[in-house]
Amino acid sequence: MQGAWSAAQRRLHWAMAGLVFVNFLLALVMVALPLSALFAKILTYQLHKSLGLLLIPLWVWRLWLLARRGRPAPFMLPGWQQGAARWGQGLLYALLITVPVLGFLSAAAAPVAVETVFFLILPIPHPFPPNQALYDVLRPLHQGAAWGLVVLAMGHGAVAIHHHRRGLPVLQGMWRGP
Ligand code: HEM
Repeated sequence: MQGAWSAAQRRLHWAMAGLVFVNFLLALVMVALPLSALFAKILTYQLHKSLGLLLIPLWVWRLWLLARRGRPAPFMLPGWQQGAARWGQGLLYALLITVPVLGFLSAAAAPVAVETVFFLILPIPHPFPPNQALYDVLRPLHQGAAWGLVVLAMGHGAVAIHHHRRGLPVLQGMWRGP
């Protein structure tokens, strides 16, 4: 336990939150783009995949910082609220890695083989060839997990704003630090 979130932990928190929301909206756009806008569609897919893959090293770095520096002592809240917060944050950490991994596996299994090129610079080899049956399982899992992540993150944010309005320095602690 430590007194406050470090600057690196705070920046990672907001950077990853931003990445998730931007990539979620990008996914809705990329799927909605018609085939007549093929170039834009391919570019948005590659950007979606690149931003999503960026989440993986950021997640590792965040868990490493958490292990090394710990986190601030929890606020004096009723036991059930502390339990709900711990479970909610644990699920957020789990989804923050599950969503991009499922996305990458969906891209690998996609029946139309499209290479994943990280920010159009670095080709990332797929772990297996196209597989329709696998894609039919992985894609809905990726989409469902992504919706779960966004809804849970919004709930997490709403609870933080609620505590902030009650005078608890929860949001301030993650925004500006001590
Ligand atoms: C922040 C992380 C990510 C979020 C929030 C996210 C979100 C989503 C959502 C919501 C969809 C469904 C769109 C729809 O049908 O309405 C989707 C589809 C997809 N995503 Fe992601 N994704 C993420 C990361 C990734 C990564 C890392 C990859 C691959 C490297 C990826 C590849 C795909 C593919 C291939 C589809 C299916 C598109 C299609 O059916 O044509 N995603 N994503």
